[in-house]
Amino acid sequence: MVGATLNNLLREYAVQGLLTGTILIVDDELPNLAVLASFLDGDYTVHEAGSGAEALEIAKTTPIDVVVCDQRMPGMTGVELLHNLRASGVDAPGIILTGYTDTPALIAAINDAQVFRFLRKPWQPEDVLTAVAAASNAVMYQRAAARLLNLLSDRTTELQRVVTELRSAQQSLLQLDRLVTTGRLAAGITHDLRNAMSSLVMVEYEVTGKLSDPELSETISVGLAGLRNLLESLETMNQYAKQKQLAMTMEYFDPARVVRDALTVMRMDLNFRARTVRADAPPETLPLVLGDRQKLVQVLVNLLRNAAQATRVDDHIWVKAEATADGQVRFSVEDDGPGIAAEVRDRLFEAFASTKNEQGVGMGLYMSRLIVENHKGELRCLERAGGGARFEITIPPAELGT
Ligand SMILES: Nc1ncnc2c1ncn2[C@@H]1O[C@H](COP(=O)(O)OP(=O)(O)OP(=O)(O)O)[C@@H](O)[C@H]1O
Ligand SMILES: [Mg+2]
Repeated sequence: MVGATLNNLLREYAVQGLLTGTILIVDDELPNLAVLASFLDGDYTVHEAGSGAEALEIAKTTPIDVVVCDQRMPGMTGVELLHNLRASGVDAPGIILTGYTDTPALIAAINDAQVFRFLRKPWQPEDVLTAVAAASNAVMYQRAAARLLNLLSDRTTELQRVVTELRSAQQSLLQLDRLVTTGRLAAGITHDLRNAMSSLVMVEYEVTGKLSDPELSETISVGLAGLRNLLESLETMNQYAKQKQLAMTMEYFDPARVVRDALTVMRMDLNFRARTVRADAPPETLPLVLGDRQKLVQVLVNLLRNAAQATRVDDHIWVKAEATADGQVRFSVEDDGPGIAAEVRDRLFEAFASTKNEQGVGMGLYMSRLIVENHKGELRCLERAGGGARFEITIPPAELGT
C-alpha cells in the first residue's frame, strides 16, 4: 500500500489518475488469452493482443498499467516486446509467462528489459493476480514520484522567480529611500544655487552687449548655461524623489538643438575641452521630437560628462543625432576610453552604481534612463568596436510618440 506520507502529498498536490486499471495481455495462443482474460476481467479493463506487433499498436493509443505476455511468440518474444514498449515511452511494468527453464541467458534478458516478474508455466490464476496487483502498485509509485518531481521542479522555478522579484523590489525600495535622502540634500543645494543664479542672470543681462571683450561675455553665458543645467538636474532629481514620477514640460523641438545645448553646457568642463570632440547633428534635418527638451539636454550632458571623465587628453568623443531607418531619432555618445568596468557593467543603470568614489554618485545613468523612458524611448550601452563605450538613445518622433 502507498505510505501515509505519499498519500498526503498526493492529496495535497491533487495528484490523481495515476492508474487507469487497464491490463494488456499478449499471447499468440488464443485459448490462453481467453483464460487470462476471464479471471482478470472482473477487476481490470483487459485489452487482448495476439502478437507483439498488435500489442505495440494498442499501447500507442491506450494508456496501460501492466502488460502480461507470453515469452514464446512468433515474430517478437515477450522480452523483445517489453524492450520495444520501453523504447516508445510506455512505463507499464511487464509480467512474462514462460515455459522455459530459466537459463542465465533468459534471466539476463529479463533483467535487461526491466521485467517486473516472470511466472513459470503452468501458472496459477492467483499467482497472476498477485503479480498484476503488485505491478500496478509499483507503477503507481513510479508515476506518483515522477509527477511529484515535476510539480516540485515547477514550484522551484516559481519560487526562484518570486525570490528574484522580491529581491529586486527590495532593491528598488532601498534605492528610492536613498533617493529621497539625496533629494532632500539636493533641495538645500538647489536653493543656494538658485539664489546665486539669479544674481548671475542679472549680471549677464547688465553686461550683454556692453562688454567690448566678446570672449568674456561668452564665458559668462557658458558659465550660466552650465549652472542652469546643474540646477535643473538637481531639481529633476529632487522632484522625482518627492513625487516618485517625473514632471515633464513638453514641447516640439529639433533634436539637433539638444546636442547643441548639451555641448554649450559641456564647454564649462575642462576635461571635455581637452578631448577631440566630433559632433554630428545637422539642424532642421531630423524629425521633430515632442518631449522635455531640458531633460534630454541633461541626459546628453550626463553621457558627455561620463565620456570626458573616462578618457584622457586627446582621446576622442563623438556625439551624434540621426534618424533611424524606421523613423526614430537616435542620439549617440561614444568615446575611445577604456570602456565600462566589469564591476559596474551589470548595474550600470541602477542608482548609486559608480566607480568614481568622490567624483560621482552614480545617479547620472539612472536619471538618464528614467528621462528617456519617460519619452517612450530607450537608453542602451553597447560594446564599441575597438574599445571604449557607446551609449545610444532612441526616441520616437513626435507623430509616433503621441
Ligand atoms: N563612457 C564611459 N566609459 C567608461 N565607464 C563609464 C562610462 N559611462 C559610465 N561609466 C561607468 O558607469 C558608472 C555609472 O555612471 P553614472 O553616470 O550613472 O554615475 P557616475 O558618473 O559615477 O556619477 P554621477 O553621474 O552621478 O556623477 C560610472 O561610475 C562609470 O564606472
Ligand atoms: Mg555620470
